[in-house]
Amino acid sequence: MAEDFDVNLDTPKYYTPSAKCTENAWAGDYSQRYQEFLADPTGFWEDIARELEWYQDWDEALEWNYPYAKWFLNGKLNVTTNCLDRHVFNQRRNKVALMWRGETDDEERIYTYKQLYHAVCRFANGLKSLGVQKGDRVCIYMPVVPEQLIAMLACARIGAVHTVVFGGFGVSALNQRIRAVGAKIVVAADVTVRRGKAIPLKTIVEDAVVNAPSVERIVVLRREETKPVELHPEMEIDFEDLMENQPRECPAEPMDAEDPLFILFTSGTTGEPKGIVHACGGYMVGTYYTTKHVFDVKDNDVYWCTADPGWITGHSYGVYGPLLTGATCLITETTPDYPDAGIWWNLIEEYGVTIFYTAPTAIRMFMRVGEEWPKKYNLSSLRVLGSVGEPLNPEAFEWFYHVIGGAKCPIADTWWQTETGMHMITTMIGEPMRPGFAGKPVPGIVADVVDSDGNSVPPGTGGLLVVKGPWPSMMRTIWENDERYRKYWETIPGCYTAADLAVKDENGYIMVIGRSDDLIVVAGHNIGTAEVESALVSHKAVAEAAVIGKPDPLKGNTIKAFVILIQGHQPTEKLRNELVYHVRMTLGPIAIPSELEFVESLPKTRSGKIMRRVLKAKEMGMDPGDISTLED
Ligand code: WTA
Repeated sequence: MAEDFDVNLDTPKYYTPSAKCTENAWAGDYSQRYQEFLADPTGFWEDIARELEWYQDWDEALEWNYPYAKWFLNGKLNVTTNCLDRHVFNQRRNKVALMWRGETDDEERIYTYKQLYHAVCRFANGLKSLGVQKGDRVCIYMPVVPEQLIAMLACARIGAVHTVVFGGFGVSALNQRIRAVGAKIVVAADVTVRRGKAIPLKTIVEDAVVNAPSVERIVVLRREETKPVELHPEMEIDFEDLMENQPRECPAEPMDAEDPLFILFTSGTTGEPKGIVHACGGYMVGTYYTTKHVFDVKDNDVYWCTADPGWITGHSYGVYGPLLTGATCLITETTPDYPDAGIWWNLIEEYGVTIFYTAPTAIRMFMRVGEEWPKKYNLSSLRVLGSVGEPLNPEAFEWFYHVIGGAKCPIADTWWQTETGMHMITTMIGEPMRPGFAGKPVPGIVADVVDSDGNSVPPGTGGLLVVKGPWPSMMRTIWENDERYRKYWETIPGCYTAADLAVKDENGYIMVIGRSDDLIVVAGHNIGTAEVESALVSHKAVAEAAVIGKPDPLKGNTIKAFVILIQGHQPTEKLRNELVYHVRMTLGPIAIPSELEFVESLPKTRSGKIMRRVLKAKEMGMDPGDISTLED
């Protein structure tokens, strides 16, 4: 499978970012840094870890008991003292930590590091007053508002393990996650605001906790002032009431480096999402280092990552990484084209954003609506650009580079995963950039493109993207499913296999091509074919369903579903709409099929596995390849 394709590398074209943008970059000289790492891999990471504060030093940097790694053994720390106290009790007390912007310009809230520190401490004390203790799981289901970050940091402060669920997920996705981790508390908001409309979240929470006996209390942020939602007196408590009268200081829980910091779910190839577990010490060191070096965060930067903290990008580069570096961060509850397609550029001008991290799907959307939108605004504050979630195709790279970056800003196309915790492959600042190629391994990790036996493939030949050996922010396990964790390290012995296909060029630059498994990346979000299929099959009219990803110029991929109906049901337009709505209600709007076709049969292997590959080839008018295992 991996060796099935060759890629035409054409004449390479590299861009060199302007010296002004790259001078004195933290990244330094790439080759030199990489050599330093190879000469002393664990010492390299220890030097980075020493830039942060620990209650107790580690005995050893790494214990590698393949496929299990422990980093910074017996080191004691708390991530929030590094995100907050370290700045508050040093030079950054009155520096702006967080600027929140809603959909209109009168919706703005700003926190200095000191204010954020006290808010986190007070909410942490509030959680304690509800009986939350170290190791308890807290589920956070909120839109992008300051309280979402405050809740995350408050959990980390007291050692509770947070599970943030993206506010766009529906009832069953939320219910599944709450039950999987046995959450004691759910922190939610009454509504999320989108395109001027308040969309209720609390009703979703009410439905999602019905058969979740672990949940003791629900904390509700009430944003609707004119008609505040009613709270159930025994079960529900107002977010602000919980904080009120709480002490402004909350001693941070000293955590072992290997204690879990959070669990974040990501789609799997089976119907069940995987709860990726990250550990306090290694995750902190990995996200701190990459935020600082890949984005070159300096004290006068204004940093904007457009991802929702409901995803790993929001965790690592919207919350933890930037706060660890002491950056001024912009967070927004905005839609890229509301009230018009100029909103993001408007915000960059208004807040003087210098570092901007977003996704190819957004860039392609902006390309389509035209240059006139960014041209209306002064984007000259921008210094560093970043992209994540799916391949940044050369056309999108060119547009981002010229139209947004004014042909002066480096672009870091960052390849990584929920599982990796931090950036793994990118082009470090100062290095030439090759459009379409993420770049080379970040100093600190070893990555390669290999065949199915684990041998390095020559430039131009496709293979599997792998990471060789452990790194600090790697996931430690999959929540209550260690077997599934081991699989990542067993496909190719000794390597972490990412299930992405890639190709290298003659200079070692890596182009990520796409998934090698049954995940579809839609607008940068991973969706498992099995999840959508089981949502469809849960409808009373559906006998069987198969789902494929179809390449899409805007979203990277869209979802197409093939459905076999149970006898007696008619393939009507009404039913089609009903099924799409059903998926929306079950999984949320991100998982909606754009196309749904009623079929009489599905291609299957003799062992009964649906051959999505065949469906996809047929759909695309391509040769289905080897169909010898096809049943019929
Ligand atoms: C894809 C998001 C190409 C890839 C941080 C990976 C990318 C999956 C890139 C992880 C990129 C992410 N170029 N593909 N720069 N970044 N991907 O867990 O398929 O939501 O395996 O983490 O997104 O998605 P996840």
